[in-house]
Amino acid sequence: MSAPRTVSKEQIQNQYAYIDGIANLLKGRQMRAYTHTFGCQQNEADTERIRGMLYEMGFSMTDTVDDADFILFNTCAVREHAEDRAFGNIGALSHLKKQRPDVIIALCGCMAQQQKNVEKIKKSYPQVNLLFGTHALWRFPSLLYRVLTEKKRVFDIDGEECGEIAEGLPVLREDGAKAWLSIMYGCNNFCTYCIVPYVRGRERSRFPEEIERELHELVAAGYKDITLLGQNVNSYGKDLGLDIDFADLLRRLNDVSGDFLLRFMTSHPKDASPKLFEAMADCPKVARQLHLPFQSGSDDILRRMNRRYTVGEYRRLIACAREKMPDITLSSDIIVGFPGETEEDFEQTLALVRETEFDLLFTFLYSKRSGTPAAEYEDKTPAKVKQERFERLLRTQDEIVARRQAAYQGKRLRVLVDGAAKGPDYPFTARTEGNLLVCVRGEGLQIGQFTEVEIEKTSLRCLFARKR
Ligand code: 5AD
Ligand code: SF4
Repeated sequence: MSAPRTVSKEQIQNQYAYIDGIANLLKGRQMRAYTHTFGCQQNEADTERIRGMLYEMGFSMTDTVDDADFILFNTCAVREHAEDRAFGNIGALSHLKKQRPDVIIALCGCMAQQQKNVEKIKKSYPQVNLLFGTHALWRFPSLLYRVLTEKKRVFDIDGEECGEIAEGLPVLREDGAKAWLSIMYGCNNFCTYCIVPYVRGRERSRFPEEIERELHELVAAGYKDITLLGQNVNSYGKDLGLDIDFADLLRRLNDVSGDFLLRFMTSHPKDASPKLFEAMADCPKVARQLHLPFQSGSDDILRRMNRRYTVGEYRRLIACAREKMPDITLSSDIIVGFPGETEEDFEQTLALVRETEFDLLFTFLYSKRSGTPAAEYEDKTPAKVKQERFERLLRTQDEIVARRQAAYQGKRLRVLVDGAAKGPDYPFTARTEGNLLVCVRGEGLQIGQFTEVEIEKTSLRCLFARKR
């Protein structure tokens, strides 16, 4: 397999030249940028890169569109609802654009990558000045330069030939304890319901030394809770030809000095293995937390989803993870109402949920995505039945979570303080190693600090604790 193509140093320097060019064009003006991100953590990480470039161009960031000179929506296409919301948001800007024609409105991300949406935006959303897809992110400075100098609309969505890896561009992260670290991009799995492989292209892994370098930078900057990102981190390295897989990468990153916690997402069950769980159990800086989406508890549905594992194999993975790490925190994604899902299929999903007792579930109603195979499958189940199943699943999970949360009463845990809480009694938020939310009270608490706490009370969504 050929190694991923990295954008050449010259091309990156070229983008820096455009950054300087824009800074010169805007010199002396107070320019503000507003960004909004829909969808997953990968999108959040992408927005941080664009904000990094904007910052270097001389923009300051603002939280409202009202005083922004540049507005960016980084969009999501995974479910219809996310797409509708993005269109709604862009539509709502037409008024602002009439009042302030100089404001630049840009769209990027998965929804903007699809040809059908590009046509729609070209025709019906004249307020949009700039549109670029997921592959063109690193070219943002040159695209914005064209918008500013040529005074016309720029639309740039390229195919896979641009699915390269760009290293060395700036990043502007939120202050705080948490940071994202992308280790790979794209997906090769083509689950039949999912649009991601079509909009994010094939899997490309970053070189381990680049990931390690960025981790060093993050730790030096004070980040303590670092999540390695990829659509399917378990297939990390397959395209590198370097004899390194994800478990090896975890061990390598665990050796980076400093006091920090590494998480990762998302794992695909077909590629998760005992080798991964051994690495997790061996590495003190790797959180004992696993997000392992199973999507459905029915083998028949899994086959039609093209997931390439069985429920039996999934059960064995969970048993193996729990055997090596009895205190591991588990979460999963589930799709309810996949075309052709019967009551019996759904009961099997419920059974797996009851038996596994996940700490957290992300549950989704199936959303038809045109261009995916499942969009062609016959789907006769009424929406009302799907909704009813969805609610049953939520109720089942809530009962489990209530029990699991209550079991924390009186326990002593190490947590990372990561923000300000809303209530006065417990002024800080924190996260357990398993990423459970804790509200904390006590003397001398500081954001970014690991501390020992004792759980005083619990609710469905939060543990409440006192510093020890
Ligand atoms: N409909 C509903 N949920 C979906 N997901 C992906 N595609 C769809 C879809 N078409 C869910 C899966 C995935 C999560 C990120 O989003 O559960 O794991
Ligand atoms: Fe979509 Fe499946 Fe790839 Fe996840 S593994 S991004 S669900 S195609």
